Amino acid sequence: MDCNTVILNNGVEMPIIGLGTHTLSGIKMYKSVKHAYRAGYRNFDTAWLYKNESSLAWSLKFLGIERKDIFITSKLEWKQLVDNNLKGEQVKSVKTCFESTLRRLKTDYIDLYLIHWPNPKYYLYMWEEMIKLYEEGYIRAIGVSSFLEPHLEKLKTISDVIPMVNQIEMHPLNNRFDLVKYCNENEIQIEAHSPFARGASAAELMCHPVLLDIARYHNRSVAQVILRWIIQQGCVTIPRSKNPERLVQNIHIFDFELSEEEMTKIYSLNQDRFFGSDPRKTLAYL
Ligand SMILES: NC(=O)c1ccc[n+]([C@@H]2O[C@H](COP(=O)([O-])OP(=O)(O)OC[C@H]3O[C@@H](n4cnc5c(N)ncnc54)[C@H](OP(=O)(O)O)[C@@H]3O)[C@@H](O)[C@H]2O)c1
Repeated sequence: MDCNTVILNNGVEMPIIGLGTHTLSGIKMYKSVKHAYRAGYRNFDTAWLYKNESSLAWSLKFLGIERKDIFITSKLEWKQLVDNNLKGEQVKSVKTCFESTLRRLKTDYIDLYLIHWPNPKYYLYMWEEMIKLYEEGYIRAIGVSSFLEPHLEKLKTISDVIPMVNQIEMHPLNNRFDLVKYCNENEIQIEAHSPFARGASAAELMCHPVLLDIARYHNRSVAQVILRWIIQQGCVTIPRSKNPERLVQNIHIFDFELSEEEMTKIYSLNQDRFFGSDPRKTLAYL
């Protein structure tokens, strides 16, 4: 690995910046992966839900990128287990779903496999089964996504294996301060998805006067300030872009530092606002 990394609680090294691939597929995926790899990205985030695991695999293959040189994350979705069963009953095993992800990604292992969403009906079962795959050596690290403290506390009741990563929506309009603190205390690596609050819907974030001021001071873009604010907290992040210049910009955040005062100013923009699904809705069913 030749870019900045973090070490997960099982000793696995993970690049602190990755390429988010939601909505990318076909030629858009190929071009984004090409420009990202050239810019230094070695971490690629996909999911069954994005229907682009195969696109990522062939992009990597056509670019001649070696498997050992990159870190791949994919995610297990509870809907995969249920498939087309109208009664919502489980018809597939986690292992079957995982093997289909391996086939689509044309690889024999995954660096990080996450439970995509804390569906209260399935997530404890999914976690037990993922631990088995991890212990069998098919996955280098396992984790969760969009889990809140109560979900994580419940995992502790069924196993001593602590998730290595919790991938969550995190940006200045939803800084997840308490959850980041809880995860740090429990050695769970936070990975910030949607760092730009998904882009189009977040013009107010990219044009926020506080962020613009800080960006001007450092002669950087607002996007770089946001990503720097995330990694300066020790969190991994996976911005998505199909624009070559922005891909370069988004990884060039290691040569400047935000002051404590600037970090605090950015924390103060918090509105606890989700631009994707709000996981608090699942808590009533725990
Ligand atoms: N675990 C989960 O449940 C979950 C949920 C959502 C997302 N994710 C993961 O997180 C990744 C990133 O999140 P996201 O896709 O929701 O969106 P995002 O990274 O927050 O925002 C992407 C948007 O920001 C724009 N952008 C990128 N760099 C920019 C820059 N330097 N300046 C201005 N605009 C910029 C992009 O436009 P251009 O392409 O035109 O640059 C795009 O419209 C996803 O792709 C996915 O891998 C995970």
